[in-house]
Amino acid sequence: MDFPQHTALITGANRGIGLALTKALLTHGIKKVYAACRNPANMPDLADSRMEVIALDITNEEQVNAIAKRATDVSLLINNAGIIAAGPFSSTPRAEVMRDMDTNYYGPLAVTQALMPALKANALAERPAAIVNVASIGAFANLPVLGGYCASKAALLSMSQALRIELAADHIEVFTVNPGPIDTDMTAGSDFDKTSPDVAAANTLDALERGELDIFPDAASQHMISVFKEDYRGLEAIFSQMTADISAAENAEPA
Ligand SMILES: NC(=O)c1ccc[n+]([C@@H]2O[C@H](COP(=O)([O-])OP(=O)(O)OC[C@H]3O[C@@H](n4cnc5c(N)ncnc54)[C@H](OP(=O)(O)O)[C@@H]3O)[C@@H](O)[C@H]2O)c1
Repeated sequence: MDFPQHTALITGANRGIGLALTKALLTHGIKKVYAACRNPANMPDLADSRMEVIALDITNEEQVNAIAKRATDVSLLINNAGIIAAGPFSSTPRAEVMRDMDTNYYGPLAVTQALMPALKANALAERPAAIVNVASIGAFANLPVLGGYCASKAALLSMSQALRIELAADHIEVFTVNPGPIDTDMTAGSDFDKTSPDVAAANTLDALERGELDIFPDAASQHMISVFKEDYRGLEAIFSQMTADISAAENAEPA
């Protein structure tokens, strides 16, 4: 991917991986970036005239339709915004599971469908348009303390596979980014070894430049996918051990 030839729109641009990706797009020479945030006031000022901040809650149909009317020059869509509900899956309230699904699956689907006319119009055979869906290594196997979240990311991965096939003839490429633990607000309070969002973003853009369709931007996800490729039950075994470790830590007597 040649970033200077693209106008990007990224959701959840104001913090975490989204902010790191936005900064990295600017340093990689992106032509223009729509930084979409639920609350534009929360977007840090990056002092760059190529950036346009727009209001977008990806679960709000009116706002989704409004950005589709405004961002008609988009050729690179990054579906980054996401939320997470934690807790034992067998007793997670269904409303929480549905919230994860609404934000992590139906949200990116709505944004993608709304921007499809723009992506198709701006796709060229010699410079394809692109959709980048930020899923998770948890899309490949389910860590039960994040059961509803992993299911929503598996749905997003599945959507990406469908669109990759369907849109190839329209010169639209579909990428997935599948991080392991990244050091953002989302993982605050968890004990996993974490990669910094800036490193994950830099690795993601390097992989996009190389044209890698499925991106694993940190050491943990790279290890886990290599286990999965050998034997998908192997990743389930890693998550089973992590579940046992989490449970042991929760039950440990305070020192
Ligand atoms: N951190 C990790 O370990 C990790 C691992 C694998 C995958 N991921 C994925 O990476 C993406 C970014 O995660 P992160 O770690 O950067 O999380 P984060 O620090 O919690 O940031 C989440 C971002 O998503 C936005 N967002 C949430 N719901 C939204 C909605 N309905 N509409 C628009 N924006 C919304 C948030 O906006 P507000 O500021 O307004 O809340 C925020 O900008 C997510 O899809 C996440 O699932 C993260």
